[in-house]
Amino acid sequence: MQLRSLTIPAGAAFAPMAGLSDAACRRLMADHGAAWTVSEMASAKAITFGDRKSLALLRDKDPHGLYAVQLFGCEPELLGQAIALLREKKIRFDLLDLNMGCPAPKITGGGAGSKLMLDPALCGAMVRAARAALGEGVPLTVKMRTGWDDEHKTGPEVARQCEQNGADLIVVHGRTREQMYIPPVDWAAVAAVKRAVGIPVFANGDITSPERALEAVERTGCDGVMIGRGALGDPWLFDRVNAALAGRPVPPPPSLNQRMAALRRQIYEMCEEKGEWAAMPQARSQAMHYMKGLRGAAALRRACARLTHFTDVDVLIDAVFRCNE
Ligand SMILES: Cc1cc2nc3c(=O)[nH]c(=O)nc-3n(C[C@H](O)[C@H](O)[C@H](O)COP(=O)(O)O)c2cc1C
Repeated sequence: MQLRSLTIPAGAAFAPMAGLSDAACRRLMADHGAAWTVSEMASAKAITFGDRKSLALLRDKDPHGLYAVQLFGCEPELLGQAIALLREKKIRFDLLDLNMGCPAPKITGGGAGSKLMLDPALCGAMVRAARAALGEGVPLTVKMRTGWDDEHKTGPEVARQCEQNGADLIVVHGRTREQMYIPPVDWAAVAAVKRAVGIPVFANGDITSPERALEAVERTGCDGVMIGRGALGDPWLFDRVNAALAGRPVPPPPSLNQRMAALRRQIYEMCEEKGEWAAMPQARSQAMHYMKGLRGAAALRRACARLTHFTDVDVLIDAVFRCNE
């Protein structure tokens, strides 16, 4: 797929997840075939203040594959300034993504995230400002929901505004803000967004297997899928989904050795980049995802919750092997 000057490889994309999709996580997903990965969301306004934490979230010294940075906000002018600042601070990215889907009250309360779905014209203005700041070469993507609530399923109108103002691709999480993360995903509403625009649209929500990826594409007519939670602790999901989407045989699931090696690598890289003190609390939830389907998972998850030092990871892995030999 060609987006402006960028060739996007075939395959599912890895979704942005605040607190989870850090650089170590993104590299792992890219190595398993994610077409592109997205940073955790950062505030456009905070970036214009030079907030170091926000800039640190976006800076990836060693990105694997194509990398998008995601910004949220609701003021077009500040968004343009933030993008200019990313350039000035030499934050490297291949695509820029705008967040129009976050349901968290602390984000929507300020008018950003999924609150934007109530104001399609403002969505258009945000995209226009981003496009002006980016210039013509860099692809601009938008991640949205299907609307705010049942009475405001504005996805198609928002998507048209985005397209008309310079967006190159849209990802739709198949739920309104009101639906938060409650199943099921509304593929019909995603299909309505796809029909509304000519640019590529990717479907997102609850894709945890090759079968679900195929179903999402079939039911929405979308050009691809984006996967978030399903790939946590299971980066091989990209290998399986990409094979299914391409009509190739789906590879077998990974061995326990492979799973534990991936867990260890991920936490090691987190510690390298953030320092053990900052990394280990986040590593606990990453580790829990690797316990899915294992014998003794409940006790192992309790051990994950106690991880404090990197050396504890090896103790955890020993316990995993003991329970699953
Ligand atoms: C903990 C968590 C954090 C998230 N953070 C972001 C974010 O920063 N930006 C964003 O656009 N979406 C965010 N999302 C939404 C995901 O990108 C995705 O749309 C959603 O989880 C549905 O896809 P999935 O079922 O494949 O996970 C987040 C989701 C979760 C569970």
